Amino acid sequence: MPGCASHQPLRALSLTGMSEGILLADEAATLAFGARIAGLLQPGDCIALYGDLGAGKTTLARGILQTLGLEEEAPSPTFAIVQPYEPPETRIPVWHVDLYRLEDPAEVAELGLDDARQDAAMLIEWPERLGPGLWTDALRLHLTIEPQPVGESVGQSTARRLTATVPQAWEKRWPPA
Ligand SMILES: Nc1ncnc2c1ncn2[C@@H]1O[C@H](COP(=O)(O)OP(=O)(O)OP(=O)(O)O)[C@@H](O)[C@H]1O
Ligand SMILES: [Mg+2]
Repeated sequence: MPGCASHQPLRALSLTGMSEGILLADEAATLAFGARIAGLLQPGDCIALYGDLGAGKTTLARGILQTLGLEEEAPSPTFAIVQPYEPPETRIPVWHVDLYRLEDPAEVAELGLDDARQDAAMLIEWPERLGPGLWTDALRLHLTIEPQPVGESVGQSTARRLTATVPQAWEKRWPPA
């Protein structure tokens, strides 16, 4: 079960001095922010991506994967659940995981996330499905859809707000330069 492998305390909490988060104006901004995170990512890191359907979790993961070297657009792992990448296609091994379809927390053990994390960085959508089992040293990123500005034509807003819960393992790396 994820969480058992790490004993690091969850210390720090909201993004220091940035509790209002970071505004990502459009999809390109989210991809670009993913690129900044990619520069900091190391094997063994875990990034938990929270947010409603369509909030931009896969888009952010795509920005990370693209900058790690992935040439094709990363597919959403909603149906595969786990999509692993290995060098040379990415600079480091990465697992892109989407737990949305996981119905029973007992299924988590079958995914082998703890083992994978020995060598790979983990990008996990719908980490809520792990319950309290998420590793305590995971960087937790929360994406929310900003309201449509008043007066703009109806349609889904393209702005997203990103807030982070930053564990000790990421304190020196966050926010990314
Ligand atoms: N600022 C933005 N950042 C990210 N995506 C945006 C933004 N503005 C608009 N979009 C659009 O919103 C959608 C986000 O989809 P995405 O698959 O990344 O969401 P998700 O959070 O992974 O959803 P799911 O829970 O279904 O996996 C895409 O169609 C994207 O083009
Ligand atoms: Mg997704």
